[in-house]
Amino acid sequence: MKKIRILSKSQQETKDFGEKFASSIKAGDIICLFGDLGSGKTTLVKGLAKGLHISPKKVHSPTFTLMNVYEGRKSFPIFHFDLYRIEDTNEIFSLDYEEYLFGDGVAIIEWAEKLENLMPKNYYSFELKHKSENERSITVTKKEKR
Ligand SMILES: Nc1ncnc2c1ncn2[C@@H]1O[C@H](COP(=O)(O)OP(=O)(O)OP(=O)(O)O)[C@@H](O)[C@H]1O
Ligand SMILES: [Mg+2]
Repeated sequence: MKKIRILSKSQQETKDFGEKFASSIKAGDIICLFGDLGSGKTTLVKGLAKGLHISPKKVHSPTFTLMNVYEGRKSFPIFHFDLYRIEDTNEIFSLDYEEYLFGDGVAIIEWAEKLENLMPKNYYSFELKHKSENERSITVTKKEKR
C-alpha cells in the first residue's frame, strides 16, 4: 500500500474518508490512530464503523473502560480502544489485550502511542494533525515488520 495523505476540510469529510477506507479492512487488522486532542480520531472511527456496517451512533470513545466492542453485520467484532488515560503499559496487560488484538476481530486504537513496546508489528497507522480550525491532515501508512 502506498502512503495516503489527504487534507480533510470538515468533520464529514473525515467520516467519509474513514468509511471509504473501511473497504480495505480485513478480519484481524489493527488500526492505530495518532494525533492530538480534537484532531478527529473518534470522528474517523465513526466513519470506519459505518464502512464496516456498524451504526456510527454506537461509536463513543470508551471512557470508563478502555475498550468498547461493536458487533455489526460483518462476521467479526470491532474493538475500539482509547488509551488516553493509560499511564503505564501494565494497565494494558490487565485487559487481555493480546486476545483482542491478535484474534479475528478488528482493533481500532486511539492514542496508540501509549502502547509503547506493546505496539504490534503489523498495523495501519493513521496520523491526524490540526491544520486549522476545520482542517486536518490525515496520513495513512501500512506498517509491516518481519
Ligand atoms: N476536518 C475535521 N475532521 C474531524 N474533526 C473536525 C474537523 N474539523 C473540525 N473538527 C472538529 O474537531 C473535533 C474532533 O473531535 P474528535 O472527538 O473526533 O477528536 P479526537 O481526536 O478523538 O479527540 P480526543 O483525543 O479527545 O479523543 C470535533 O469537535 C469536530 O467537529
Ligand atoms: Mg477520541
